[in-house]
Amino acid sequence: MNVVFISPHYPPEMAGFTRGLAEVGANVIGVGEGSAAALPNATRGHLADWVSVPKLFDEESAANALVRALRGRKIDRIESLWEPTVLLAARVRDLTGVPGMSRDTVLGFRDKQLMKERVARAGLRVPLSRRVTTVTEARHAALEIGFPVIIKPIAGAGSADTFRCDDGPELERALARMSHIGEASVEEFIDGEEFTCDAISIDGRPVFESVTQYHPRPLIARSEEWVSPAQLTFRDPHERALAGGVELGRNVLAALGMGSGFTHMEWYKKSNGEVVFGEIAARSGGGHLIDMMNWANDIDVYREWARAVCWGRFDARVARRYHVAMVFKRALGQGRIARIEGLRELRAACGPAWVGDHLLPVGTRRRNWKQTVVSDGGVALRHPDYRTCRALMEKAIGELTLYARP
Ligand SMILES: Nc1ncnc2c1ncn2[C@@H]1O[C@H](COP(=O)(O)OP(=O)(O)O)[C@@H](O)[C@H]1O
Ligand SMILES: [Mg+2]
Repeated sequence: MNVVFISPHYPPEMAGFTRGLAEVGANVIGVGEGSAAALPNATRGHLADWVSVPKLFDEESAANALVRALRGRKIDRIESLWEPTVLLAARVRDLTGVPGMSRDTVLGFRDKQLMKERVARAGLRVPLSRRVTTVTEARHAALEIGFPVIIKPIAGAGSADTFRCDDGPELERALARMSHIGEASVEEFIDGEEFTCDAISIDGRPVFESVTQYHPRPLIARSEEWVSPAQLTFRDPHERALAGGVELGRNVLAALGMGSGFTHMEWYKKSNGEVVFGEIAARSGGGHLIDMMNWANDIDVYREWARAVCWGRFDARVARRYHVAMVFKRALGQGRIARIEGLRELRAACGPAWVGDHLLPVGTRRRNWKQTVVSDGGVALRHPDYRTCRALMEKAIGELTLYARP
């Protein structure tokens, strides 16, 4: 089983998937820029081979370089779980005839307007939306859809350059800040709670599902620095309150022609119970979501993803034991972390519910909170009871504080 895995070391969770591939018996051929010598040891140890391409993000030249490098070898799978390279993987599959989703199918998971069109065509509820390339088109779209609207880049990520506009002047302000964006989407604003539905599928059939709720909604977390962004993975995604989202998830996978691999979908639940599609990607979720699925179930999702794509099997027994909460913290002040308050008390309050922390140690420079989903690090905890898990999560939000100074 020879598996080409693009970017086996970055973002950091890819190292886990590379390990998973090696553990299920794949010869992993890593692809990236630069030399294998620069890879972290842990990743290099799981690779059978390394192919260097000059520019990973130049899809055409990278695809051609990869096809040349792989010529004459028997390749069974070409995989990528990193958003900027999922299309590259698909293109090389198309060029080489290696099985897996075509580039056109993967585009349905990458182009936000195309995905909504395909999902809507299957009769599923998506926000009203228009693809726009000029300021005039954006104004027309907003009037047609009706305020409030969301305006965001077609190929956005991490809520970057995404704005809620309640009226014309707010739209003008947003447009002024988006002049560097070539193509945007203007959408009906959906008021509600925001969830993910993450899945591993085999030939389009989900064999593992997990639902996580964002607290608060990512756009708010990204707009206000004082927020501690938190997320809670539900012990059992098949509980009744989540059924609409899980069903939507399955229907979306069918509508988009999902094959085998990971998907990360976001969906909204309005106060009247209506469930609305947000977006979907043909990759794993970031922000420690994979670890949270592991802690909820005491399994190894990294390895099971690998088993699913290599052998068409998912062998883990999913325990559905814990609700898992992750709370990310942003230090007060600028510069380096100077002090952490409330950690000892939080650990004591959690007792066996404590999973661990990855807070930046004292002395480390703060991260740019706008550019990272993991803030200045976070804490994780888990509990079989939802209310207890939620209460401990609130405690971490309210009573754990990092301070920074220049
Ligand atoms: N139509 C919408 N209605 C309400 N909120 C939205 C809408 N579209 C986006 N948002 C908010 O903006 C965030 C980022 O948008 P999203 O489409 O998920 O793009 P990305 O996560 O790739 O940046 C969402 O998590 C949500 O909080
Ligand atoms: Mg999103």
